[in-house]
Amino acid sequence: MTVIAHISDLHFGRDLQPVTEGLLASLDALQPDLIIISGDLTQRAKTSEFAAGQAFLRHLEQPRFIIPGNHDLAAWNLLERFAYPWRKWKRYVATDLEPIMQTDAFMAVGVNTARRLGLSLDWSRGRINRKQIRYVQEMLQHVPEDCLRIVVAHHPFWLPDSSLSRSLIGGREAALQGFHTAGVDLILGGHVHLAYVQPLEGMLVSHAGTTLSNRLAPGQPNSFNVIRGDRNRLALEQMEWRGTGFESIQRQFFQRTAGGWQPYDEV
Ligand SMILES: [Fe+2]
Ligand SMILES: [Fe+2]
Repeated sequence: MTVIAHISDLHFGRDLQPVTEGLLASLDALQPDLIIISGDLTQRAKTSEFAAGQAFLRHLEQPRFIIPGNHDLAAWNLLERFAYPWRKWKRYVATDLEPIMQTDAFMAVGVNTARRLGLSLDWSRGRINRKQIRYVQEMLQHVPEDCLRIVVAHHPFWLPDSSLSRSLIGGREAALQGFHTAGVDLILGGHVHLAYVQPLEGMLVSHAGTTLSNRLAPGQPNSFNVIRGDRNRLALEQMEWRGTGFESIQRQFFQRTAGGWQPYDEV
């Protein structure tokens, strides 16, 4: 059984020290096989924030898999944003913006959905393009049948009713079709600072809240998710910050059927 900790939207610069210490304690107890971080490592892409993020990443003892979010692009320094948008990311975090990781149990493919410029006024809105969809498909092409197929992208492919004022990711329909064809099981993301799981076109969309920052959505404490299972069954557990530590607040169970991933009640 694979155990994955999914954390997101750490927003160094707006991080909460006690929560960071609580997360490290939880990860130490959990000993996950992998820690997935789905973007927005920093608040304003400042050098000091990237340095703090780098120090945090060095504390992680397990393998990690990290992609950028829209906050990891410089917001005010337009020269940096347009001329060398990912220089700090590559210096402090990772040289690869779209990592892949494969074990006997799973394959994870990262997609960078943050954009320097958008067609809409909302530049925080992310996008996935056809080349990236093909990238996911090609990476998953020769994966063994029993290998869990995971895509990690910062922006949402599905939103709950309470968050419909936020934008869905651009290129969503083509991506969902492409992912479905590629046999994707899980689409992991962040951005809305809200934790939820939703079956969608046979796949599961799962978002983590902001794990460490004080940029909390109304009524949403800091949180992260724990994913346990394999390509037949998955348990998705939501962990919430309760003042002194992270506590489990719910577990949802899913099984893969001929029609895709479906919820079931564990007896
Ligand atoms: Fe965020
Ligand atoms: Fe974001």
